[in-house]
Amino acid sequence: MSGRNIVCVAGARPNFMKVAPVLRALASRPGLAGVLVHTGQHYDPNMSDSFLRDLELPPPAVHLGVGSASHGVQTARIMESFEQALPALDPALVLVVGDVNSTIACALVAVKQGVPVAHVEAGLRSFDRTMPEEINRILTDQIAEHLFTTEDSAGENLAREGIPPERVHFTGNTMIDTLVHLMPRIEAARAREPLGLPAGGYAVVTLHRPGNVDSPARLGALVELLAGIARRLPVVFPIHPRTRANLARFGLEGRLAGSRVLLLEPQPYPAFLSLVRECRFVLTDSGGLQEETTFLGVPCITQRATTERPVTTRLGTNRLVGEDPAAARRAIDALLDGDVPRGTVPPLWDGRCAERIVAVLEERLR
Ligand code: UD1
Repeated sequence: MSGRNIVCVAGARPNFMKVAPVLRALASRPGLAGVLVHTGQHYDPNMSDSFLRDLELPPPAVHLGVGSASHGVQTARIMESFEQALPALDPALVLVVGDVNSTIACALVAVKQGVPVAHVEAGLRSFDRTMPEEINRILTDQIAEHLFTTEDSAGENLAREGIPPERVHFTGNTMIDTLVHLMPRIEAARAREPLGLPAGGYAVVTLHRPGNVDSPARLGALVELLAGIARRLPVVFPIHPRTRANLARFGLEGRLAGSRVLLLEPQPYPAFLSLVRECRFVLTDSGGLQEETTFLGVPCITQRATTERPVTTRLGTNRLVGEDPAAARRAIDALLDGDVPRGTVPPLWDGRCAERIVAVLEERLR
């Protein structure tokens, strides 16, 4: 091993929950040290700073401050800045998580500098190459040395893509580690109370995928869907900046006026999970939320044609309804009329994934 540090990369909101437990596990081991690099892909205080604070992350050793841009420009900016920053971080290994542009950009820089890469949440596949995340996942897995998986399907996908099995480790889900670790704060947050929402009597919605929110027709149909759901129960919708901007751009904001759809700013982690834990169901196109609802046993309706997390539909509470809002409406009506998905918690989603990852790294880097 050349350098001393495990350089952990986070850039976008869903990354922070995945690196936090790894950094915590590293801090408790004498042999390895973790440092955090923040690429700045997400930068609004409520998309970034609040997560650093709530997840008890150490201050980033480096903040690359790249911000938003087209995919090519954003990825290139991250690569350019990370290439300059990496040598001074004395890296033994670069650890990347998930599937965002920061993931592939930093993995590529590291391998080109001869630094091995670990990928946490490896092997997930939607088999939809129009999703930017799918390309990021496939490429990151091809160049990573150590691949840590969350579910069986991921190991099968990696085997099919020719990744040698000795590189692949089924360790569980670090996002669930964070959920377990912060459960006392989530329970204490009681975020529904000031909103006047009864336990089990409201829905939580998140929508931010380009496929759902970047076209006026699709976003308009989703707004109609939300207005329709709100006739049956209140809907809480913490809204991603991309979606908020598009609602305004397409002139759709007014259509929810007077409805029981409550548009909120992106929520801090404990408040958001508190809302999810006590709701009747979630409607989403997020990846991570499919897993969090499965762990919490909360019904989840996923407005997408594919999921890269099939264990959430096989064992968990997730129902994949496709892209048509009318199909989501049918699934939600069935759910409200008593057809409630029940599930179990997938194997190794037990709050101890990061410890297993660090144990593997200790052994492999010795
Ligand atoms: C990114 C990830 C996606 C992940 C999502 C979680 C990629 C390709 N996509 O998508 O996989 O599910 O994060 O949120 O990496 N914006 C702000 N403030 C911010 C961040 C973004 O206003 O702090 C706005 C900007 O207008 C920006 C847009 O949101 O152009 C999209 O941000 P970007 O990071 O490009 O992608 P996300 O849609 O957030």
